[in-house]
Amino acid sequence: MDSLEQLVETARAAFAGAPSPAALENEKARFLGKAGSVTELLKGLGKLGPDEKRTQGARINAAKQAIEFLLETRRAELAEGELAARLAQQSIDVTLPGRKRSAGGIHPIMRTWMRVEEIFGSIGFDVADGPEIENDWYNFTALNNPENHPARSMQDTFYVEGGMVLRTHTSPIQVRYMETHAPPIKIIAPGRVYRVDSDATHSPMFHQVEGLVIDRTTHMGHLKGCLIEFCRAFFDVEDLPVRFRPSYFPFTEPSAEVDIGCSRAGGELKIGAGGDWLEILGSGMVHPQVLKNCGIDPAEYQGFAFGMGIERVAMLKYGIPDLRTMYDSDLRWLRHYGFLPLDIPSPVRGPLLGVTGAGGAA
Ligand code: PHE
Repeated sequence: MDSLEQLVETARAAFAGAPSPAALENEKARFLGKAGSVTELLKGLGKLGPDEKRTQGARINAAKQAIEFLLETRRAELAEGELAARLAQQSIDVTLPGRKRSAGGIHPIMRTWMRVEEIFGSIGFDVADGPEIENDWYNFTALNNPENHPARSMQDTFYVEGGMVLRTHTSPIQVRYMETHAPPIKIIAPGRVYRVDSDATHSPMFHQVEGLVIDRTTHMGHLKGCLIEFCRAFFDVEDLPVRFRPSYFPFTEPSAEVDIGCSRAGGELKIGAGGDWLEILGSGMVHPQVLKNCGIDPAEYQGFAFGMGIERVAMLKYGIPDLRTMYDSDLRWLRHYGFLPLDIPSPVRGPLLGVTGAGGAA
């Protein structure tokens, strides 16, 4: 290897050893700068004769080009390395869970609605729907509500123009469903309802879920079994006492209100065996007159219905003391009682409420 080849090799090693673009520019000066070795060699050409000057000049220029090429290559390499390092430092692992709690969440009313759908869905119920503005027939008459029944009074019912009402319960969905579907019927129908009422436990708008089962031999035993199962699953208390208390609704006969066991020891309400009772829903065998009103022959078919307040069971399940706070949209309240956006009950994952109760979003 002659001295020029050696010089190129020295430059290659020096450039490769430069750890940063700044260090590389320093190395460059050693070879190509004003006092650099290549520059010095070119200056020396003046002392040579014409022939030697030509051959030696060409060789030095070739070496200079080789060194410039090495410099460019190393420059690009360092720049690329810097970019890669910066990217590595700034990289985001998209598989990591979010650090910040998202602003949105699921309201306990909606979460309860979904959980009710999930439980009944898992035992074969369909979900039905109906309008919130109803006429007198669907909200009252078809449901066997006598003309003079107190529920029809202006004190309970919001009347709107044209003799229509804001439905006072989800029961009109029973009528609409029976009119349009032949038995067997097995549905629930959650939705908003309206009543002229407002205090710590009543809101002019609230939610109910209706249930309706019609078949040839459906009897009171089915009603009881179904609702006991539901209560125990919903409150996640395996041996929850459930009591059926005789009651009255115009559209069911016999009728029963359903209570669940609780304890109020020490001023603290606890769902489960404890000697006390809490009413949570109304139910009964569908009145033959209602079946007739909906075009179903009561000599052939019978069944049961129930209606439950969604806010009421949500308040009991999550220990929410005042109904009105449900609609305040107070972010502190929502953060405390709300659920994570993806914390949605699903029959595929199995029941969740027992695992992720109120405050599960925290
Ligand atoms: N609709 C009744 C109410 O709002 C509840 C109910 C539904 C009772 C179905 C019996 C059967 O109070």
